[in-house]
Amino acid sequence: MAKVAILTSGGDAPGMNACLRACVRYAIYKDLDVYGVERGYKGLIDNKLIHMNSRSVSGIVQRGGTILRTARCLEFKDPEYQHQAADTLRAYGIENLIVIGGDGSFQGAKALSDNCGINVVGIPGTIDNDLAYTDYTLGFDTAVNTVIGAINALRDTMDSHDRVSLLEVMGRNCGDIALYAAVAGGVEYVITPEVPYDIDDICSSIKFSQKRGKTSNMIVLAEGAGNKEEICTKIKEKTGISVKTTTLGHIQRGGSPSMADRVLAAKFAVRAVDLLLQKQTNRVVGIKDNKIIDRDITEALNEKNCFDKELYNIAHILSL
Ligand code: ADP
Ligand code: F6P
Repeated sequence: MAKVAILTSGGDAPGMNACLRACVRYAIYKDLDVYGVERGYKGLIDNKLIHMNSRSVSGIVQRGGTILRTARCLEFKDPEYQHQAADTLRAYGIENLIVIGGDGSFQGAKALSDNCGINVVGIPGTIDNDLAYTDYTLGFDTAVNTVIGAINALRDTMDSHDRVSLLEVMGRNCGDIALYAAVAGGVEYVITPEVPYDIDDICSSIKFSQKRGKTSNMIVLAEGAGNKEEICTKIKEKTGISVKTTTLGHIQRGGSPSMADRVLAAKFAVRAVDLLLQKQTNRVVGIKDNKIIDRDITEALNEKNCFDKELYNIAHILSL
């Protein structure tokens, strides 16, 4: 019987568990022998594999995080550890690996394939939505919904006091969480790493919306796009207005996955297992124009510039 191992790596994302469940159950349905690896690449190096059956993934479809746990395992960039990981897999007779994670995790999967000959398929799982070859990654929809909840709550209190609020959200070098939350949450100003901000523009936007009778003003800042203290100090200097800041932090990475993330998880898992069965490996799955796709892992990693400038402009127009 052919064997497959599955791991989750990098930052956890809501939907990873739903995806693991779907991978395990679909692979078993297709007569594969399935192993889970604990704590991402660290578990491969440390030989932490668990044999899985359908019951191993019971009751997890609704749970955030990852029951396999995850890790940021920096030594995995060293080929010596990559070979150690491949040796672990081969000791179990496993040639196939499904990696659920972000671009860093995909770099690790590519290294295992290029340097050690392991058959890999990647499933994009990260709240950041920073993989250009796919429209959406697992966890993004849930994270944005969590941010929208925070915007709604902040709006209640800011409105009551005619205040200006700045909410910092995650996304490392990608502004998608900030941008989508801004459009869906009716935010007045969004700052993302892809578009350099102009402090005078932010100040005129605040003044302009106050003049037009707005009772609150929300700024969403993507981490990595600027320093929130610096921005607020400059706003105070230029307008005399104090800005209330909130950092949402890891709250936006946890929580029960949305319907969209659970369904995407199931579709990604089925395509990933099918690819391995068809011996089409060293690929990653994704979704483009509402269709499940797969791409060569190197090609996918080389794709850049996925920022939706049109949506960014719409966010601005709709905030007027
Ligand atoms: P994400 O997968 O969410 O982007 P990271 O960037 O932290 O998260 O990457 C997850 C893990 O992938 C790292 O801790 C490391 O084990 C592995 N990894 C990242 N970059 C590389 C690389 N260039 N070569 C090999 N492994 C890598
Ligand atoms: O990649 C997911 C992510 O949540 C980023 O948005 C954020 O910058 C980073 O992980 C935080 O990482 P950690 O939890 O290791 O501090």
